[in-house]
Amino acid sequence: MHHKPPLPGFAVRDFSLAEDWTFLNHGSYGAIPRSVQQEQERWRQELERQPVDFLARRWPGLVAEARGQVAPHLGTTSDCMAFVPNATAGIQAIIRSFSWQRGDSILTTNHRYDAVHRILQFAMRRAGGQVIEVDPSANPTPDSLRTALLAACRPHTRMVVLDEITSPTARRLPIKPLIEDLRDRGIMVVVDGAHAPGQIDVALDTMGVDFWVGNLHKWVCAPRGAAVLYAAPQHHDVIRAPITSHGHGLGFHAEFDWTGTFDPSPWLSAPRALAQHEAWGGAELRAAHRQLAGHFRDRLYDALDLPNPAVPGTPHTLAMIAVPLGVPTTHVPAAQHWLAAHKVEAPIIPWQGQTWIRASAFSAYNMPDDIEALIALLPKLRNVLRDGT
Ligand SMILES: Cc1ncc(COP(=O)(O)O)c(C=O)c1O
Repeated sequence: MHHKPPLPGFAVRDFSLAEDWTFLNHGSYGAIPRSVQQEQERWRQELERQPVDFLARRWPGLVAEARGQVAPHLGTTSDCMAFVPNATAGIQAIIRSFSWQRGDSILTTNHRYDAVHRILQFAMRRAGGQVIEVDPSANPTPDSLRTALLAACRPHTRMVVLDEITSPTARRLPIKPLIEDLRDRGIMVVVDGAHAPGQIDVALDTMGVDFWVGNLHKWVCAPRGAAVLYAAPQHHDVIRAPITSHGHGLGFHAEFDWTGTFDPSPWLSAPRALAQHEAWGGAELRAAHRQLAGHFRDRLYDALDLPNPAVPGTPHTLAMIAVPLGVPTTHVPAAQHWLAAHKVEAPIIPWQGQTWIRASAFSAYNMPDDIEALIALLPKLRNVLRDGT
């Protein structure tokens, strides 16, 4: 059966977003609909009735059930996934699970997320290894990515960390055709899918990667603190949680299910967030995001008088779009404050010496007109970026 994508803004009343802001940054921290806020509150109240019973006795069963409900949405089984608080913790877990040697290298691209890069740098500096950052161009193609990565491979390249959807540039990296090739060379493939769940289809069992991390608190609208680590079966005995606790050495799930006292409500509410995502159309909702992002893209390129790389009126490939503003990066913090003072939320991002602006299109609450609030401010925003005032 063919469904039409839902109309933009169809569920705006289900969110708590302030009406006096134009919110174009779902990508950074998400925004949670009331149904999920209520589910989280329900779990918190349930826990408060008897905290020890909840955390000491019921927890293993509760977390196993939540995991079992989440895994099929990501194309895997609960055997291969664990909850983590966020993508950063997931990457940290992977990196600290291996003993790195002098001369080792990890490859990544210059589209990488800064926090992840710091994790890689920290591990490589300690070991006397190296993080090699390749440049597949601002618009990576399967060829440019492959050529850049393969040219950087060394005999002791042990791992490649690739974003599925890039944060500063909002590009989908064409990683699929590369995975087998890299693994055939004995290189572990780690995919940072922080932005993937709820934005694109995720099919972990057929992806063929060693590890993958993804956030549920971005495009799936789970409460903040809900993310997933996937580990291929051959790594289940090796992978260690980001924080060593009681489950250390007791198996994949025991390792991750308890890393010290915490608020478990985000993980337990994740199934409700996925159910809401499906009730809003699932694949159709994701298509509606892309449609709206295409509109944002067309309007931004028009307003900036830059050549539009896409056919106007066509959907974008993702639910967010990033465009370079053609101004230096010196005054980015001042410009971000200036934009916030005008109650428009969109990240201004320095990348490769250029200043980019990113707009997210979450079609349940964003409207086509939302981009106009940003566009109206663009001339002045570019002045602030040039002059700092
Ligand atoms: C590509 C990428 N990796 C990792 C992260 C970190 O996510 P978290 O803050 O949930 O750890 C982000 C967040 O925006 C991201 O875009």
